[in-house]
Amino acid sequence: MSQPSFVRILLCLFILTGFITAQDEDQFINDLLSRMKLGEKVGQMSQLPLWSADDEHVLNAIEAGRVGSFLNAGDRATKEKLQRIAVEESRLGIPLIFARDVIHGYHTVMPIPLGQAASWNPELVEQGAAVAAREAFQAGIHWTFAPMLDISRDPRWGRIAESPGEDPYLGELMARAQVSGYQGGDLRATGTIAACAKHFAGYGAAEGGRDYNTTWIPENYLRNVYLRPFEAAVQEGVATVMTGFNELNGIPASANTLLLKDILRDEWGFDGLVVSDWDSMGEMIEHGYSADSAEVALQSAVAGVDMEMASLAYIRELEQLVESGGILESRIDELVGNILRIKYRLGLFENPYPPEEAAISLSKKHLEIAEQLAAESMVLLKNEQSILPFASTVGRIALIGPLADSPRDQLGTWTPDGRPEDAITPLTAFRELETQGIEVSYIQGVEHPRSVDKSGFRDAVKAARKADLAVLIVGEDQLLSGEAHTRAFIDLPGVQEELIRKVSATGTPTVVVIFAGRPITFATVEEECDAIVYAWHPGTMGGPALVKLLMGERQPVGRLPVSILRTVGQVPTYYGHKNTGRPPSPDMLGIPLGTPEDPIDYVSYYLDSDFTPHYPFGFGLSYTTFDYGEPSLSSKLLKSGDSITVSLQVTNNGGSIGTETVQLYLRDLVASVTRPVKELIGFERVTLDPGESKNVVFTIMNEDLAFWNVDLEYVTEPGDFVIMVGSSSADTDLQKLSLRFDID
Ligand code: GLC
Repeated sequence: MSQPSFVRILLCLFILTGFITAQDEDQFINDLLSRMKLGEKVGQMSQLPLWSADDEHVLNAIEAGRVGSFLNAGDRATKEKLQRIAVEESRLGIPLIFARDVIHGYHTVMPIPLGQAASWNPELVEQGAAVAAREAFQAGIHWTFAPMLDISRDPRWGRIAESPGEDPYLGELMARAQVSGYQGGDLRATGTIAACAKHFAGYGAAEGGRDYNTTWIPENYLRNVYLRPFEAAVQEGVATVMTGFNELNGIPASANTLLLKDILRDEWGFDGLVVSDWDSMGEMIEHGYSADSAEVALQSAVAGVDMEMASLAYIRELEQLVESGGILESRIDELVGNILRIKYRLGLFENPYPPEEAAISLSKKHLEIAEQLAAESMVLLKNEQSILPFASTVGRIALIGPLADSPRDQLGTWTPDGRPEDAITPLTAFRELETQGIEVSYIQGVEHPRSVDKSGFRDAVKAARKADLAVLIVGEDQLLSGEAHTRAFIDLPGVQEELIRKVSATGTPTVVVIFAGRPITFATVEEECDAIVYAWHPGTMGGPALVKLLMGERQPVGRLPVSILRTVGQVPTYYGHKNTGRPPSPDMLGIPLGTPEDPIDYVSYYLDSDFTPHYPFGFGLSYTTFDYGEPSLSSKLLKSGDSITVSLQVTNNGGSIGTETVQLYLRDLVASVTRPVKELIGFERVTLDPGESKNVVFTIMNEDLAFWNVDLEYVTEPGDFVIMVGSSSADTDLQKLSLRFDID
């Protein structure tokens, strides 16, 4: 048989199998729906938190087919108990789906997602999600409420910790990596769980950075920024989507037909399950959008929420609404069909019970991935006189700070199954150095990040005086980040700034390591820090990762996924901003603060702060240095359907091996709607030995130039563009090339 016809037959078989599988699935769902009573259909649409597995009402509801899902359903035995009732005692035996917030690890806790984004390593982030899936699957969990994909450009917002940062391109990569990590290639496979793209959509744009607050986002801006990670997740096959608490342009997300029907279903072809956030449906009454519970149920069902989390509008109102003709049962069938589809794809009808007990959590491999991800999340911001990596000649280290030995805080927010006793803190990891003859004296300095008691300063100063190196680990405790934990001031809490000043004043070289759930402001103590490492909340293996980094056993590769500001007064300040009609010029930096000097120009700047961030998006140092050669374009003219390349030589011109993240940005100079001064459209990590060079090549196609215009068309417009390549989003770190794009 000739090759082509064999291949053709294979292809047909593949398509046919796919078609049969889809047909099997549809047939299964339609058949089951045809046998379900209305009450059982509505039951599937209810997701309850499990307060007690012994509550007769709950057990009776399961048996009556009035519950479709539980979140936080306890241990394996509890889940098995509930599942047996659903499968073996209810009329149709439809299995429950168990959900949990496995946001950045289950027992093996990875860095917070914002820290993971700082790795700019999607492959590694995917491995981290796969670890979390394997451990959660083992615990009988079918569905995680992750990844959180809310682009965050306001560091006051506590949930920036869970986000992929300020940039949609990096957000898209983080979305794909996490969905793929959690779900693997097959939801039926052992060790995979359903992912959930949340919070759909625009939740990160809360006014004032205050959680749950109003969001106003023009639709073309919504599409050009906030929707991109969600669309990437849907393209990656995410099984579920969760609506946000926020109202978007006057319509709460859980009743927002534009989001849930027009975009998610009709435009993107999403065929999975939409779940509300915790009582986000019920809160539509508080929003002033729903008059009562019946309206909540109607508006949410019409818009397209399949399953209601934690509130009871569906279970209380839907049957009555159908019976009164307020909503067609065929609509209920569509919503329930989405739920049954995900249960089917997870294989729950064949394998509803937790898998055989196996020691999966905290395995050597899992901990190795957690340590690597923690190390790669850490960003070296400053390193005066290359005091890092500290040489093994250092004899005595003073380890100081309230977060040097705080395992719970090191895990970060949203770690319900992370156990502090499993976390290896920096203190524990530093103690290991004593076997190498390095003396480590540990002084807390302050008992807690928010403490204002300075009585510990004296001992800290004393220890620093006697040491060759002082390492301070300061920042935010985990409670200061995460849901509802918005801060109006985002500097170092308590008296930690003063602690840094006191230690630095001893003259001992001072390394400051910041653990935090957001980019906090610390420009006021910048001078006192000889070296600065931004470590976010690094998870279970944060201690070993940090010490190996400081020692030089690991290289600093992290790059900022979000801008670090000089002061909270600059919010919002992010790199992908618009140019305005009066952009400030670089020579306006450094205006003497608080002087009687008149404003030197009428442009968009501050009288009392530089307008640039303290550290820009994409910034991060290495232990070596890199030289960027002159970039060149394969052509200065890009025609529709063609592609051009940007290439440049990058050389490690320093003394040690290092990894550089070469970044590619684009600016559309003139368009039918104003475009950002730059947008990340690509990056490449290169690891080079001292003296080694690599020719880095990026390909640019017209798709890279596309955007949503005010008429909500996805367009590429002819005109002049600027291509920028360099080591961060700062203009001073970028080389620029001109590119013309023509349609014909
Ligand atoms: C919370 C969060 C959401 C989480 C859900 C379940 O309020 O907004 O991200 O997944 O409730 O815990």
